[in-house]
Amino acid sequence: MPIMRAAFVSRFDDANPLAALAVGEQPEPTHPADDWVTVQVRASSLNHHDLWSLRGVGLRAEQLPMILGCDAVGVDPDGNEVVVYPVIPTPGDPRGVSILSEHFPGTLAERVAVPRSNLLALPAGLAAADAACLPTAWLTAWRMLTTVGRVDDADAVLVQGAGGGVATAAVALAAAMGKRVYATSRDAAKRERIAELGATAVEPGARLPERVDVVVETVGAATFDHSLKSAAPRARIVVSGATAGHEPKVNLRRVFAMQLEILGTSMGTPDELAALLAFCAERGVRPVVDTVVPFSEVADAFARLHSGDVFGKVVVDHTA
Ligand SMILES: NC(=O)c1ccc[n+]([C@@H]2O[C@H](COP(=O)([O-])OP(=O)(O)OC[C@H]3O[C@@H](n4cnc5c(N)ncnc54)[C@H](OP(=O)(O)O)[C@@H]3O)[C@@H](O)[C@H]2O)c1
Repeated sequence: MPIMRAAFVSRFDDANPLAALAVGEQPEPTHPADDWVTVQVRASSLNHHDLWSLRGVGLRAEQLPMILGCDAVGVDPDGNEVVVYPVIPTPGDPRGVSILSEHFPGTLAERVAVPRSNLLALPAGLAAADAACLPTAWLTAWRMLTTVGRVDDADAVLVQGAGGGVATAAVALAAAMGKRVYATSRDAAKRERIAELGATAVEPGARLPERVDVVVETVGAATFDHSLKSAAPRARIVVSGATAGHEPKVNLRRVFAMQLEILGTSMGTPDELAALLAFCAERGVRPVVDTVVPFSEVADAFARLHSGDVFGKVVVDHTA
């Protein structure tokens, strides 16, 4: 059986996900249907999702080994540079879809297979390493702000947990859209860096100078009360993650009295990814990249993400 190098989940380890990571040889991806194609990966990026997978969240033991990675930019069989949209129709899944590395092998490999309709052209002027940050974290932030958060009707936006991939994306995008942006971080150095992206940076829980119309919430239990307190009447609190706990206390009195909307969302549509790519290419907005590592150092990249000491995306260069 032809093989390729890949980073994959070998077993689950909830306490120490890094111990569950394996880097080595895996079978070439196969095509479950005629409309699938194989993409030669040039760049990928890590997401918190990959750490959840190593912990066993969203995967069953009988699916192992599973190649990790949701994001990729590469070259299709016709030689075109493409961005891979990572959401795949998956009839057996209760959501009807899955993200690469959940049912189908992921992008942290030499090659990845997807339906041809999941490929978008890499816009001119956008580097592969930058575009590889967009399909998961940035797409999620884009949809949180636009389709779900209705940011066009907003003046002010609060982003919780400023260092994360989704959070840095939300700050950069909302600032580029001309909104007043507030961002929280526990870390003074991260607050300084998020301010450089155009946000007013505050400590977690700090009172804001105004109430906001949209809250981008990926932290969860640690920040949710602050999200509720910071919300203006009829604000949208948009949730796409819960890194610090998924069972916050919710003051329902505030929810109904302020007529707040608490909205869940995941990823985005291919059209939203196309709009995001065009927005970044045309407006000169580029992802915040924490580090770019060659594939041979992918284990170090995971350690960095796991440490929490990242600001923006960790990118893997598959050509180095
Ligand atoms: N639904 C989707 O489609 C989707 C897509 C992408 C991501 N996600 C989810 O969104 C979440 C964010 O992912 P990410 O990769 O962007 O970032 P991340 O690495 O999970 O970190 C997000 C931020 O959370 C803050 N944080 C972490 N632990 C905390 C704690 N105990 N108390 C307060 N703040 C804490 C940190 O901010 P500071 O250090 O700055 O305080 C950190 O920068 C994850 O849970 C991920 O699974 C969901």
